[in-house]
Amino acid sequence: MNEKKVMLSGIQPSGDLHLGNYLGAIKNWAARAEEFDCYYFMADMHTITVRQTPADLRRRTLEQLAQYIACGLDPEQNTLFIQSHVPQHAELGWVLNCYTMFGELSRMTQFKDKSAKHKDNINGGLFTYPALMAADILLYQPDFVPVGEDQKQHVELTRNIVQRFNGIYGDVFKMPEPYIPKAGARVMGLTTPDSKMSKSIPEGCVFLMEKPEDIQRKFKRAVTDSDTENPIRYDPANKPGVANLMNIYSAVTGKSFEAIESEFAGQGYGKFKPAVGDAVVETLRPIREEAARILADKAYLESVYKASAEKASYVAGKTLRKVYKKIGFVSR
Ligand code: TYM
Repeated sequence: MNEKKVMLSGIQPSGDLHLGNYLGAIKNWAARAEEFDCYYFMADMHTITVRQTPADLRRRTLEQLAQYIACGLDPEQNTLFIQSHVPQHAELGWVLNCYTMFGELSRMTQFKDKSAKHKDNINGGLFTYPALMAADILLYQPDFVPVGEDQKQHVELTRNIVQRFNGIYGDVFKMPEPYIPKAGARVMGLTTPDSKMSKSIPEGCVFLMEKPEDIQRKFKRAVTDSDTENPIRYDPANKPGVANLMNIYSAVTGKSFEAIESEFAGQGYGKFKPAVGDAVVETLRPIREEAARILADKAYLESVYKASAEKASYVAGKTLRKVYKKIGFVSR
């Protein structure tokens, strides 16, 4: 019997991985394998809720796998799979659609944001996406779902679905907990400190595979304020740009806000911004180099995603069979 607790999460390969994905999610996945049974996947089925270029989606999915491994997720210890390779996601996704309410889905922030952004393609999948996400999670009966702040609402909805489903059929699903990091849970755009870092604003977004000089340039251009008297202070309400840079610096160095304030006491942004840039460059350098090396070995990547899909499918199949039986489907 498996004694270890289970951890699961996923990222959409809809764009290149960025610092928000790393600090909000992947960094907290790595080094957990001793303690947890870990499942991490490339959420390719979610990406088609927005139109994708097929060749880019294929390339990004493999790049994401190489970057997962380069970030420290050892495939011997973590199950690193591609969502569409495990058909149980679509199958349970359909079932859970029927246990998720229209009103609940209408309240999802990500749906509201994305439907405002893609007015010409407000498709059914975009709306019911959280039911598929609930299936992604519940198939593996995880204890924890490590995500950034913006995904908390979807995990809360998953918890509502568990309550509803278990209320009818008994203890079918384990109740998952969101696991949100203290520093890095919400990395804001460097040019837009009032909205989260995202690939849609590339000049304020630092990508994992970006060249050091480009990363430095983005940090030097980060939006701060015109405060000149001891400007490096943690004050998110009045100084959101500085708070974001402090948050990033804290997440990559492990230093507290107080320690950062005293390190830069009496200094200006001319010193602070490049220091944050340097710390990020040095954090990302080994990841970038290792990911490039792994990506060149396609046979290795294939062996990883095939073995992982097999393991994931075995675990997911068990949950799905239980669900089908409970809801009254005749067994095969
Ligand atoms: P996605 O692909 O948008 O983001 C992947 C992860 O990165 C985190 N993240 C951030 N964290 C901090 N600051 C930011 N600026 C930032 N931007 C992104 C997200 O919170 C997330 O943890 N629906 C999910 C993918 C998904 C999933 C799942 C996650 C599908 N199925 C099951 C967990 C479990 C999504 O769109 O994340």
